[in-house]
Amino acid sequence: MAVFQYKPLPTEGEDDKEKSPLTTTPAQSKAEHHERTLKTIFAACVFVIFCGGVLLILSLMEPEKGLRSFRQALIPEIAMENFVWENNKTFAGTVDEESNHAWDSLIPPGHGFILLSKSKAKKHHLPPGISVDENHDRYSISMYHQIHCLGMIRLGYFAAVDRFNGLHSGPSTKRPVGNQDEHAAHRDTLHLEHCFDYLRQAILCAGDTTIEWARDSGDGEIDSQVDGWGVEHQCRSTKTIYDFTAKHRAENDAEGIANVIQR
Ligand SMILES: *[C@@H]1O[C@H](CO)[C@@H](O)[C@H](O)[C@H]1NC(C)=O
Repeated sequence: MAVFQYKPLPTEGEDDKEKSPLTTTPAQSKAEHHERTLKTIFAACVFVIFCGGVLLILSLMEPEKGLRSFRQALIPEIAMENFVWENNKTFAGTVDEESNHAWDSLIPPGHGFILLSKSKAKKHHLPPGISVDENHDRYSISMYHQIHCLGMIRLGYFAAVDRFNGLHSGPSTKRPVGNQDEHAAHRDTLHLEHCFDYLRQAILCAGDTTIEWARDSGDGEIDSQVDGWGVEHQCRSTKTIYDFTAKHRAENDAEGIANVIQR
């Protein structure tokens, strides 16, 4: 019967030669094997305890980061999708029944709020939401808050346009026609209509599912509104994008926000 002798993997240095398997008995190498296993287990334990300690210290140093992951654990994994942005006249158009319906249909039933039991919210380190009943709060999903804000700006804008036209001309038209440069005014309005639809698609694309809690009215009372302030989001680095774009800039006479409309 063949006897297989234990042969350790060669380690670096002299040790190999001294502890050659030829000079150790099977009993010795079994004992060494045992000792090595114990040492490995011990080292693994020390490593795990060390890593745990480091993570604990890090989470104590940056409590908000730790809290965000607790909070976002309530949100399911969301797949990435490629989506070509296209002008959609229904969304970009002026305020009418069809376009308002399209905008409204972006907000799901429940108005973009989710319901959480107070105990679950607490378990996930969420501050109080808007109280629904004694055991439940509702929380806003940021993407719907963003769409809501953009939709409100849109409604406000077209209401202002109507008021402007009512003051400055006879019958109300849907687009502002100034007294001097009607053509430019018309073009700017078309540009703005484009902006509403463009930003709509940007908000849907970013799909920010950050959970937003109720506004703290300042006197310790929990408000029945969500303003989104004080909530940490996960953001791409604005500075990196700014620096990259500025570094590789194309020369342009325009500056700032409003000059970008080429005339
Ligand atoms: C524009 O949006 C409406 C409403 O959601 C939709 O029915 C239509 O298919 C869209 N059109 C295009 C060109 O994407």
